[in-house]
Amino acid sequence: MAAFKTLDDLPEDLTGKRALVRVDLNVPMDGAKVTDDTRLRAMLPTVLELSDKGAIVLLLSHFGRPKGESRPDMSTAQLVRPLAELTGRSVRFVEDCQGPQAERGIMTMLPKNIGILENTRFHAGEEKNDPELAKGMAALGDYYVNDAFSVSHRAHASTEGIAHLLPSYAGRAMEAELTALERALGNPEHPVAAVVGGAKVSTKLAVLGHLVSKVDHLIIGGGMANTFLAARGVDVGKSLAEKDLIGEAESIFERADAASCTIHLPYDLVVAKEFAPNPPSVRTCNVHEVAADEMILDVGPAAVEALADALKTCRTLVWNGPLGAFETPPFGAATVALAKTAAALTQDGSMISVAGGGDTVAALNQAGVAAEFTFVSTAGGAFLEWMEGRVLPGVAALQR
Ligand code: 3PG
Ligand code: MG
Repeated sequence: MAAFKTLDDLPEDLTGKRALVRVDLNVPMDGAKVTDDTRLRAMLPTVLELSDKGAIVLLLSHFGRPKGESRPDMSTAQLVRPLAELTGRSVRFVEDCQGPQAERGIMTMLPKNIGILENTRFHAGEEKNDPELAKGMAALGDYYVNDAFSVSHRAHASTEGIAHLLPSYAGRAMEAELTALERALGNPEHPVAAVVGGAKVSTKLAVLGHLVSKVDHLIIGGGMANTFLAARGVDVGKSLAEKDLIGEAESIFERADAASCTIHLPYDLVVAKEFAPNPPSVRTCNVHEVAADEMILDVGPAAVEALADALKTCRTLVWNGPLGAFETPPFGAATVALAKTAAALTQDGSMISVAGGGDTVAALNQAGVAAEFTFVSTAGGAFLEWMEGRVLPGVAALQR
């Protein structure tokens, strides 16, 4: 893994020093209430450590996609109260993330104080990685800390540009992400298994293409498995399948073969004539028995058992995406069962398990096993880009 400075490389005493910390306050909200505070909890160790060392902690973040406009409904001011509650410390709002107004707000802050700067994306320069904006932000601080892996796939002023202008460090959450990802795919213990699910192959082609050369077992589930089944000549009935991508699926089979990566596709399935909770038509069948008016909605129980057996031979697992339509019963059964197996193997100490991306965390929470995985990433898009083997600009900019 490339080398990064961490908070361990900062002076012990930061009294009165200003630490600009890029965090990801882009959390789901319902009115004033944060409905999933995972990202807020993830950044606490960094924020509290810097505050305890006497720093003036200035949080930089986007919220939503305001596209360069000041939108009151996307102000980061709404995160002040949730963060104050979570930290048990006073948190104040600073009305800009650069310039004289920001400077005025910060001037009256004391050592250990925590401030949230206004939404970085209220400036059009943020997403353009405008050097002037990066300079304006950097002028507010003595140090820059990036603790937002989940937005480090964006080369923006607050994630990339600024890192070149101040002494820069990876925060504790970033450090934990990079360490876990390195153990999972960078330099893993073999055999390695990857579970890749989700609705569409089109969004995960690059991930699959990269994984075949990295892992020993590639388990494909979710709607995207249908395209691979179709490529193998299976009649998938009225299932979602991207028929125009059959050629791509074939090429992934070939590359997997050349790299000695075993691709696992389900050989039994849970199907139904309609997609609804517990539909009367639901049944389990062999992969070659899907009727023309049925759709595939989950991996079947026999296949799940075979997948569990495959996982038992592995030392490392990386998981992205559910195996079935997990939010609608009973189509979450395969995801829950395989996640439980992975959790048990992790708890036994026989496997390192790393999961991340969009629906994945929700699926693991539904299975009640997120806490039993070795590491669950807070990232969506960034996790996927990392699984594609891409260099994340916000991470690269921290390299020393
Ligand atoms: C996310 O929620 O995925 C991150 O905060 C990045 O947000 P973005 O997709 O709007 O860049
Ligand atoms: Mg996103």
